[in-house]
Amino acid sequence: MENIRNFCIIAHIDHGKSTLADRFLEFTHTVEVRKMKAQYLDQLELERERGITIKMAPVRMSYSADGKNYILNLIDTPGHSDFSYEVSRALEAVEGAVLLVDATQGIQAQTLANFRSAKAAGLKIVGAVNKIDLFKNEEEVLRKIAKELADLIGSNESDIFFVSGKTGIGVKELLDGIISHVPHPKEKYASPAAGKISRALIFDSFYDNHKGVVASVRVVNGTITTLKDINLIATETRSKIKELGFFMPDLRESEELSEGEIGYIATGVKDPEKIKIGDTLLQLKIENSKYNVKELALPGYNEPHAVAFVSFYPEDSNEYELLEAGLQKLKLNDSALTILPDQNEVLGRGFKVGFLGRLHFEITSERLKREFNLSTLNTFPSVIYKIKTKKGWIEIIKPEDLPAEYEEIWEPTVKAEIIVPAEQLKNVIPLQTIFRMSDIKTSTFQERIKVETNMPLSELISDFDDKLKSVSGGYASFSYELGEYVKADIVRVDVLVAGKPLPGLSRFLPRATHESESRKMIERLKELLPRQQFAQSLQASVGTKVIAREDIAAMKKDVTGYLYGGDRTRKMKLWKKQKRGKKRLKERAESTIPPSVFKELLKK
Ligand code: GTP
Repeated sequence: MENIRNFCIIAHIDHGKSTLADRFLEFTHTVEVRKMKAQYLDQLELERERGITIKMAPVRMSYSADGKNYILNLIDTPGHSDFSYEVSRALEAVEGAVLLVDATQGIQAQTLANFRSAKAAGLKIVGAVNKIDLFKNEEEVLRKIAKELADLIGSNESDIFFVSGKTGIGVKELLDGIISHVPHPKEKYASPAAGKISRALIFDSFYDNHKGVVASVRVVNGTITTLKDINLIATETRSKIKELGFFMPDLRESEELSEGEIGYIATGVKDPEKIKIGDTLLQLKIENSKYNVKELALPGYNEPHAVAFVSFYPEDSNEYELLEAGLQKLKLNDSALTILPDQNEVLGRGFKVGFLGRLHFEITSERLKREFNLSTLNTFPSVIYKIKTKKGWIEIIKPEDLPAEYEEIWEPTVKAEIIVPAEQLKNVIPLQTIFRMSDIKTSTFQERIKVETNMPLSELISDFDDKLKSVSGGYASFSYELGEYVKADIVRVDVLVAGKPLPGLSRFLPRATHESESRKMIERLKELLPRQQFAQSLQASVGTKVIAREDIAAMKKDVTGYLYGGDRTRKMKLWKKQKRGKKRLKERAESTIPPSVFKELLKK
């Protein structure tokens, strides 16, 4: 184990993790030069297109230093806070973390959040200032950031590395630093039963068309070989390994995985539900029932907390089963998803899916489309509301489920931490009314301002992220943790088309702004809805009170155009027929609206 180093790269979004990982892959000749492409470890098409990492990506590299050969297991992690569950799982599989800071941005909110998680996981943290190619002859600036980073980590300034993931400057020094600073894997958990049992932590999983359900593992004790069956503790599953090996980063088959190593195991399990992230995979060296298998389980992970819930319905109701299968396969690769069956009178059968944030939802919806060719109709992202009624408390997610009689609505809040340059503070403060921020506290943070505030979770998952970025010219960053439930002054607004409520479009809105918001929504709906053969009224209402209304006139079609002359009775007949047809159409159209309109309305 002495020659193994397991580490991940953590940073705020876009600080250059994946680009630095590219240089590591090149420098260690893990990927052939002709196969190299930018952000190599971002394998999903969507990751490459959007330039963001969604999935953690492990890779094993070989490296020689001081005449010794080392195995370096690197896990690249996502930077956006919606994917912090990926980061937290990666942290449990390694001994060290490179905390990377973009020199053009300095320490950002997610740098702090990731630092705290790595520290809590007991990792050795190696600080590195990145993008130094942009600071020729500006050593002062770089030194200042290095000092700030050293202060955060609690290390010496001389322990901070300077790199450019773009040009490769400083990459060798950083690799050498990782070898000397990050401890080799030690037995974190004592070997049970005097080494007679091999154990591995499942930190991720995915579906491979040839190999089936594959688990990404960190071997904690002993050696896992293909010769023996495996036991999965949580789901009480026994199976025969189909194949195992390493991430190079493509799957490279091997005979065994030894203590301290990171690799994959094609489990031979058919049912994706049987592979639980955080579960312990066991190989017993002696077949013996004297061990209580449950007691051999590693601590695993905390369950992720879904914060935003969106109902998904297949656009084509025949694709319900396909949607179910697609979501299950995505869950295998994205354990933060929670999936529950759902039903809507207009949209049919679907699923209520829980997400870790708005970006997580957008990405999942896009993955369903690309990877499974599924188009879905989604409701507004919602949170879990607690409703006080005469009979006691109930929890609801969909505004439609608000009972007619209730006393109070309570909503979840978050504690947000925003870091902003002092000169941008005046642009950030006005957001407090739009996003219902309260208890704002400001303090100085390394020549910038740290704003701590509470706000409703529903506001955070609207478009807080984008708004903060745009008002601060991209300079403000934020992270958050869940806070308490508070009594909310909000009302339910329903949307009615042709007098019928549209399930899926009801929303909770703050009482103070619900009328103006509703008007905007109805005006937007008018712009978006295609004209029909019949007139349509669009209304927003709170209970029975209509608070906004627009009308869409019917499309006019000249049904008598082909008639010569002025035979009035024949024309009348055709007009009557047209009227009947319109009525029928209107009834049949009920209150469905095109999926594209739903999608547009979702944008705040
Ligand atoms: P997420 O995983 O989405 O958080 O991003 P990331 O931290 O992996 O950042 P990524 O490697 O995708 O780089 C973000 C941007 O910074 C890209 O446009 C890179 O080309 C650029 N970049 C990364 N490293 C350097 C560097 O050393 N110098 C310069 N000039 N640009 C860099």
